Amino acid sequence: MHEGYAFKVRFFSYFRNRCKLLSMYRTHTCGELRIDDTGKTVILAGWIQRSRDLGGMTFIDLRDRYGITQLVFNMETRPELCIQARKLGREYVVSVTGRVKERDSKNPKLPTGDIEIEAEKLVVLNPSEVPPFTIEEVSDGGDDLRMKYRYLDLRRPPLKRNLELRHRMAQEVRRYLDQQGFIEIETPVLVNSTPEGARDFVVPSRMNPGQFYALPQSPQTLKQLLMVAGYDRYFQIVKCFRDEDLRADRQPEFTQIDCEMSFVDVPDIIATFEGLARHLFFAVKGIRFDDPFPRMTYREAMDKYGSDKPDLRFGMEIIDFTTLSRGKGFQVFDTAEFVGGICAPGCGGYSRKELDALTEWVKRPQVGAKGLIYIKSESEGQLKSSIDKFFTPADLQEWMKTAKAQAGDLLLVMAGPKEKTLKALGELRIEMGNRLGMRDKNTFKPLWVVDFPLLEWDDEEKRYFAMHHPFTSPLEEDIPLLDTNPAQVRAQAYDFVINGVEIGGGSIRIHRAEIQQLMFKSLGFTKEEAEKKFGFLMNAFRYGAPPHGGIAFGFDRWCALFAGLDSIRDIIAFPKNNSGRDVMLDTPSELQPRQLDELHIRVVEKEDSGH
Ligand code: AMO
Repeated sequence: MHEGYAFKVRFFSYFRNRCKLLSMYRTHTCGELRIDDTGKTVILAGWIQRSRDLGGMTFIDLRDRYGITQLVFNMETRPELCIQARKLGREYVVSVTGRVKERDSKNPKLPTGDIEIEAEKLVVLNPSEVPPFTIEEVSDGGDDLRMKYRYLDLRRPPLKRNLELRHRMAQEVRRYLDQQGFIEIETPVLVNSTPEGARDFVVPSRMNPGQFYALPQSPQTLKQLLMVAGYDRYFQIVKCFRDEDLRADRQPEFTQIDCEMSFVDVPDIIATFEGLARHLFFAVKGIRFDDPFPRMTYREAMDKYGSDKPDLRFGMEIIDFTTLSRGKGFQVFDTAEFVGGICAPGCGGYSRKELDALTEWVKRPQVGAKGLIYIKSESEGQLKSSIDKFFTPADLQEWMKTAKAQAGDLLLVMAGPKEKTLKALGELRIEMGNRLGMRDKNTFKPLWVVDFPLLEWDDEEKRYFAMHHPFTSPLEEDIPLLDTNPAQVRAQAYDFVINGVEIGGGSIRIHRAEIQQLMFKSLGFTKEEAEKKFGFLMNAFRYGAPPHGGIAFGFDRWCALFAGLDSIRDIIAFPKNNSGRDVMLDTPSELQPRQLDELHIRVVEKEDSGH
């Protein structure tokens, strides 16, 4: 499946070959020269990564975007130049003229490792202060420091590779969608509230005192208006803004590949964007998939994997033990709506201490389980469990059989409300997958999750929310249920998932006024509220809205996944930290009183709540 090395060579030589950079500062880049160039006189320009004085020689690693080339200064032949070179510090910017020479001791780790430049002339273009951390493949700088000096961190090869990959992805997205007849249209950033369910970032309007714009959480409504306007294949690589709690895969401003099409159904959209995914997999990673990507209903994903974004790199599916667990006098099981578990292969040897730690792990608020029950098959096949009091060895054998467990496996079981327990088991499954090394970053398992519920009940607010957004169309056959049993209504919505990450999501939209009214009613909007919030869209729909639907992909997430990163921060040139701050720009920051006056804004000091 992986073309591996040949592909990598193609990918990186693309950058090298693109860059024949002739100027007074340089004739070649620092990643370009090879043994065949021996004897040439060249000029290189870049940053000093490292300098070593050995005997009568000074060796300098000169770095630019394209790589590293070793420079040699010889004390015997050019003492003045060598003395000058010895004064250069890390990150000085220099231009060096010299002759390409075969190295005595070659460095197979560097593409330029067969040669070095015997320096004949040195121009210091700019000195540098000592950088606050080492700027090499691996840095000694902590997270905060590297964020503060992001422009230095970005000099490091791993970040550079990430940004190159991001660039390539963007180019390939444009190439594919252009070929499919999509046109890229920009939509405004100063808009009104958009319906993606997070908090808005708002911008005060100086010209309209007391009024605010909202930054788009996505161009959702605008792309639908473009469909009304007849631009039946739209896309945009676009910034979106959401004021929500941040995580490794969430930034307050992030980028979507946003797409919309007219006169299409779910299968048309899936086919088009599966095409995009295949194109990106091949063009950027050199990976081809033989079979169509699997499609799984939301229900199946929840039942088997406890997640609407299942990681299919490993099995360990959830097993329903509800029936088996009943009637043995164990109160927890007898009263639970659902009892389920997973079978962790080869973990039967887990010690009491390890199991206690795992129990604490599932009790963390992020997982939210009440407890964890185990049945372990020790090496001799003997079963031991935390429910021995209620279940006979034969009962436990039955559990093992149901789970298709082998000798040496471990069953981990939870009980409680069905959806909550499935989700907790899903979290545990991922944790066990991590511990057992089943989540290899170079294996990719894409899939479509379809038939999401249209609505989600919020117990705090005691009302339904749109699981996707309020313009998502219900499945035709479920429309009658909107009045009678809203929770059962399925949506014409789909997510695109790779390796347990929600990469994209979309839906067929409602384009008929009466269904939209019904939807607003189910969401608890009065006619007036709906009119105030989305009147502009409803108005447009009166003038001939075509059937339409679309999808948006989290561009940062997709790039991060391809780059094998755990956080999307490293694929973004200037990201925010977990408190939503840009520590380099030191923002958000206060405004001058004069600016506040102009904006008709008064800042009220927050009263000390005493906490
Ligand atoms: P949705 O809200 O699912 O859909 O967003 C689409 C994709 O965007 C990514 N994403 C994020 N990435 C980084 N940081 C964030 N804070 C963040 N939030 C979302 C995810 C997600 O799958 N308008 C609809 C799309 C449509 O219906 O066409 C929308 O925005 O990968």
